Amino acid sequence: MRLFSIYKVSLFILCIAAVPVFAQKQTKAQYINSLMAKMTLQEKLGQLNLIIPGDGSVTGTVVSNDVEGKIKKGLVGGMFGIAGLEKIKKVQEMAVRASRLHIPMLFGSDIIHGYKTAFPIPLALSASWDMPLIQKSAQMAALEATADGLNWTFSPMVDIARDPRWGRVAEGAGEDPFLGSAVAKAMVIGYQGGAGNANLATGNSLLSCVKHFALYGAPEAGRDYNTVDMSKLKMYNDYFPPYKAAVEAGAGSVMSSFNDIDGVPASGNKWLLTNVLRNQWGFKGFVVSDYTSITEMINHGMGDTAAVSALSLNAGLDMDMVSEGFLNTLPTSLQAGKVSMTAIDAACKRILEAKYDLGLFEDPFKYCKSARASEVLSADKRAFAKEAAMHSFVLLKNDNQVLPLKSNQKIALIGPLANDRSNMPGTWSINADAKQAVAVLEGFNNRPGIGSKVLYAKGANISDDPVFAAKINVFGEKISIDTRSAQELLAEALSVAAASDVIVAVVGEASEMSGEAASRTSLDIPASQQKLIEALSKTGKPLVLVLMNGRPLTISKETKLATAILDVWHAGTEAGNAVASVLYGDYNPSGKLTMSFPRNVGQVPIYYSIRNTGRPNGGDVFGKYKSNYLDVENSPLFPFGFGLSYTSFSYSKPMLSANSIRANTSLTASVILTNTGNFDGEEVVQLYIKDEVGSITRPLKELKGFQKIFLKKGESKTVSFTIDEKMLRFYNADLKHVSEKGTFQLFIGTSSATENSVSFQLQ
Ligand code: NOJ
Repeated sequence: MRLFSIYKVSLFILCIAAVPVFAQKQTKAQYINSLMAKMTLQEKLGQLNLIIPGDGSVTGTVVSNDVEGKIKKGLVGGMFGIAGLEKIKKVQEMAVRASRLHIPMLFGSDIIHGYKTAFPIPLALSASWDMPLIQKSAQMAALEATADGLNWTFSPMVDIARDPRWGRVAEGAGEDPFLGSAVAKAMVIGYQGGAGNANLATGNSLLSCVKHFALYGAPEAGRDYNTVDMSKLKMYNDYFPPYKAAVEAGAGSVMSSFNDIDGVPASGNKWLLTNVLRNQWGFKGFVVSDYTSITEMINHGMGDTAAVSALSLNAGLDMDMVSEGFLNTLPTSLQAGKVSMTAIDAACKRILEAKYDLGLFEDPFKYCKSARASEVLSADKRAFAKEAAMHSFVLLKNDNQVLPLKSNQKIALIGPLANDRSNMPGTWSINADAKQAVAVLEGFNNRPGIGSKVLYAKGANISDDPVFAAKINVFGEKISIDTRSAQELLAEALSVAAASDVIVAVVGEASEMSGEAASRTSLDIPASQQKLIEALSKTGKPLVLVLMNGRPLTISKETKLATAILDVWHAGTEAGNAVASVLYGDYNPSGKLTMSFPRNVGQVPIYYSIRNTGRPNGGDVFGKYKSNYLDVENSPLFPFGFGLSYTSFSYSKPMLSANSIRANTSLTASVILTNTGNFDGEEVVQLYIKDEVGSITRPLKELKGFQKIFLKKGESKTVSFTIDEKMLRFYNADLKHVSEKGTFQLFIGTSSATENSVSFQLQ
């Protein structure tokens, strides 16, 4: 204890001596200016250098060398891929003790759905449509991560995604700009302790980093890192809004994306990083590249390391993640007049400002408080993980009200994901320990009186293909191929099924079948599991599929075979407890899809807010010379916004307080929502608007509002939305944000497929 206080005192003295005098009277600008006045060119470039030591998880082939030497020379601004309070503290001590100007470092990590306690994957969280819950998920993650030394998260990922072949759809909020913007805002506020940067220095908040700027979610053919080619109209109307919302919420940093935009990679794209981000949107924070995305511009064909580094800096990029092109080449480029000292100073200043906002100059060890260790994996985090998971599940089918299960039923719990912990945390939960996760079988066994009624069998491997499994198992075993043959596994499952009243089959994707560099050309459940599902369906017993997935899957066949389907995504540390609780009806599912589920992969990209075309097919009946397919309907298998409940809801026709609005007036649109079923439950009431005539072609429907409403069985409530001119605006052909007078159709209903509508005028 005494030693500890001596240590604390000496550390305090050390900090006072080590850090440039932090005079409270100085303003932020004065403090940073006087610090920068002392910095050499190399030290300034050091601030722009973000390194990875190579003993954590990496998402590229490069790791940094001579880490200690560089830190001591003041050549490192921040580090990521380092985990654990003690390690971080040591490195921070090195920075503030051994470097000439004692500037503290940023410590970042991909805290994208929880930290050590994994929450559901972001796509799942978005399916809750519950913004306070999503905000709380970011806040809980910030509490846990800042208790473990970190001060910066590479989240939220707000890329709009309409092509489920792209594995990273798992990391975002799906296909819609309105919902995506709400989620982006909630997450930034959650991480940063409020809107803006006012609460960043509490020690409990993380600097957020909005990524991947921009359009990373629209790679050609769904192949990760691929070319993006998109009209400006689509950018501004559909893909930009969530990034903009995050910036408006005060996100402190932005990460540039790997892809090119209009032929110029995002990391060197001045139009994007300066004209749009800073000049049009007023972003004041700093821009960090993605992993080696600066030097990857060599592969893009933009020149050598010096050329691409100069291109990036001049474009408005401030911090170089891992490439070290800034550090190594900008001095020569400066001499050659290819970059200016003003640009280097501006970048350095932005990074120092973020450190100032985080309170690091005041106390470099603000995020290294050992006393907070108990906050990691604490009971409240786990309880929240369960709550968040339950709210994210989407009930896709429930024939004969087979769900919720009854506690006296004998259950055959079958499937390769039924007794699995390693896949529960979900993709890119690098800090979570899968051993802490709860398998579904454990979740059943944790329920009093249920364990004795559950019989388990694996039934099949996630995939029988060892070559495929090896690609998935890069960071640890997610697909384990059983030593028993497929026939033996199936025989065991069928005998277990025969002894049951209801079969619950836990099937789907291993967690690393989605996420980064996990693009797929087939969205089917792997063949091994398809065979299992077919065989189980032939038993004639009620068949409940618990689907685990990081993306929409093509499950047309399985939807016919199953009695019920509960989509639980990859649900995090508390997955098993949450699944059991929802299956037994402790919580009535209320999630709604945030990405359309295609019938087959040929339909992608697929999303609800399509345009009509000149030859619409007017429904799912084939018409020659109409915009449709010969072999499948146009509609998705499950539309955006879709999700059932154990109860049922009815909607009245929308009622309007007036038939028209003007620029400065509004109207109220209402429906009476009634819980017509046998359970209490929540419904996400969705408002869509269609602009009937425009100067450019407009979507068939656009989400403009939603409310999550709880109703007891038999209860009714009037649900109202305010409609004003602002919500009718869009970017026109001149990229002006305008509304246009005329007729609008307004829909209020249970999913994007609703036809429950009335019309009104904008005069
Ligand atoms: C690459 C990923 O694209 C990005 O999302 C992540 O933040 C970085 N690697 C750092 O891990």
